Amino acid sequence: MRTPLIVANWKMNGTVEETLKFLTRFKRSWKAPTSAVEVVLCPPFTALYSLSVALSEGLPVKMGAQNCSWQENGSLTGEISPSFLKELGCHYLILGHSERRTLFGETDEMISKKVAAVLQQEITPIFCLGETGPEREGGKTLQVIERQLSQGIGGVERGFFEKMVIAYEPVWAIGTGLSATPQQAQEAHHFIRDWVAKQKGTALAGTTRILYGGSVSPQNIASFMREADIDGALVGGASLEVDSFIRIVNY
Ligand code: PGA
Repeated sequence: MRTPLIVANWKMNGTVEETLKFLTRFKRSWKAPTSAVEVVLCPPFTALYSLSVALSEGLPVKMGAQNCSWQENGSLTGEISPSFLKELGCHYLILGHSERRTLFGETDEMISKKVAAVLQQEITPIFCLGETGPEREGGKTLQVIERQLSQGIGGVERGFFEKMVIAYEPVWAIGTGLSATPQQAQEAHHFIRDWVAKQKGTALAGTTRILYGGSVSPQNIASFMREADIDGALVGGASLEVDSFIRIVNY
């Protein structure tokens, strides 16, 4: 009922040349998937155009971006609008990633405005949330998740919510090699699905895809995908290398 979704978040890695090389090698090595799995590559902005041209040749991979403005245009030096990304062929947008929250000061309110702007363009937001290490140790994980959900996407109308993808990424697991256990992730995912059911209805809770992110690797992907409420992964480090990404996609 929920097609598994594997998303590569390359962060600030990947020149145009490196992106095209990745794609060439990916095409060569990736056999047609045996089961339905949706694959998305999110390179830096500068590689999106070349990637979209290369993807138009028929590879079953979609494209996403890692950030955008909440405005459509205007005097916002250095910003990129959702409609520009739509024009390039982006189907997905990673929003609210913990690196944006902590290193670039993005608040729940800013993220919620970005989600709304992206949905207006019919792009699918991949809304990220997750607790820090001290928050988990202090027993505040579910409380933090609930706040991020209600302030980030609580206001999204049901009709728009159909497009929503949520990514649970415990901050302490990102880029550390220290992933959550499948049980810890499942507990958070179950809580998130329950929140969607209460706020948006059980039908949407049944169809909303919830991804796990944080040190996903070829070794641990299958253990996450076995959990009832884990529908895919948002992969950072292990998505930069073709072989390890293919092993994840073929979990
Ligand atoms: P990681 O990053 O897989 O390198 O931990 C995940 C993410 O930040 O989305």
